[in-house]
Amino acid sequence: MADPVFGSVEEVQRSLREQAYIADRGLATSIHLATGLAKPLLLEGEAGVGKTEVAKVLAVALGRRLIRLQCYEGIDSSQALYEWDYSRQLLAARTPELHLEQVKDLFGPEFLVERPLLAAIRAGAGAVLLIDELDRADDEFEAFLLEILSEFAVTIPEVGTVVAEQPPVVVITSNRTRELHDALKRRCLYHWIDHPSLEREVEIVRLRAPDVPEGLTKEVARIVARLRSMDLVKRPGVAETIDWANALNFLDGGTLDEETMAATLGAVIKDHDDEGSVRARLPEILGEQ
Ligand SMILES: Nc1ncnc2c1ncn2[C@@H]1O[C@H](COP(=O)(O)OP(=O)(O)OP(=O)(O)O)[C@@H](O)[C@H]1O
Ligand SMILES: [Mg+2]
Repeated sequence: MADPVFGSVEEVQRSLREQAYIADRGLATSIHLATGLAKPLLLEGEAGVGKTEVAKVLAVALGRRLIRLQCYEGIDSSQALYEWDYSRQLLAARTPELHLEQVKDLFGPEFLVERPLLAAIRAGAGAVLLIDELDRADDEFEAFLLEILSEFAVTIPEVGTVVAEQPPVVVITSNRTRELHDALKRRCLYHWIDHPSLEREVEIVRLRAPDVPEGLTKEVARIVARLRSMDLVKRPGVAETIDWANALNFLDGGTLDEETMAATLGAVIKDHDDEGSVRARLPEILGEQ
C-alpha cells in the first residue's frame, strides 16, 4: 500500500483550498480514497468543471511532479510510453568511429525517448500522473493503459524492466464523448463532477478572481447558474464564470446591465447558436431572481 497521503477528507479539502481549489465533500472523499488505496481516480463531468485542475492542484499540494499524458485520437503506446530516437540512432550508426560491437548500444538508454507513462513509472510515488481526456483515445489504447495501470511496470526488450516501487497518484479525466470500458472503470474510483452550487461557485470566484467586488461575483454566479439552466449547446463552465467576472470587472466598475452583458457575452458563451438564444432573452436572464 502507498504511503498515507492525506490524513482525512477534511485535510484533502484544506490542502486543495490552499491551492485555490474548492472540492466538495464527495470529490474530497474520492481523492482521499484514491490516494489512500492507491487507485486511479476517474473524473467525469462537463467541460470546465475542474477535472484537469484536480490533478494540477494535487501535484502542488503534495509537492509532487505533475506528469501529463494528453490523449487524442490515434495516440498509441509508443507516444505514451517510450520511443527510440531514430534520427540520432541513424546518425550514430553512420559515424565511422562506431564499431560493430557497439551497435547494441544504439538501443541503450541514451537513445530512449521517455514519454509520460515511462516517466510516471520511473517517478513512482514522486509523481501525480494526469491522463487527460481519455475518451479521445481509441479502445486499443485504453486496453493498453489498463495493463500499465495494473502493473506499473514496463519491459523494454533492449533495456530491461522498469517497475514503479510505489505507484504514482493517477487522475484520469473524460468528457464522455464516448463511454470508457467497464474494465477500466472497475480499476478506478469514479467521481462525477457537477457544476458547483451557487454558493460554491461564488467561493471559487472569490479565490480565483479576488479583485472582483463581492457584489459582482454574486451577480455573475447567479446569472451563470441561470444560463446553465437554459437549453444551450455548450453550458458555461467554472472557467467561463471566472473569465466573465474578470472581464466585467476590467470594464470599469463592472456593472452588469443588458448593454455590458451583450458586450461581454463572448467571455461566457462560446457557441454561435447559444449566443443567439441568450441575446434574445437578455432582459429575462438579467431579471430579478
Ligand atoms: N472547484 C474549483 N475550485 C477552483 N477553481 C475551479 C474549480 N473548478 C474549476 N475551477 C476553475 O476552472 C478552470 C477550468 O477547470 P478545468 O480545466 O480543470 O476544467 P475541466 O473539467 O478539465 O474542463 P475540460 O473538460 O474543458 O477540460 C480551472 O483552471 C479553475 O480556474
Ligand atoms: Mg480538462
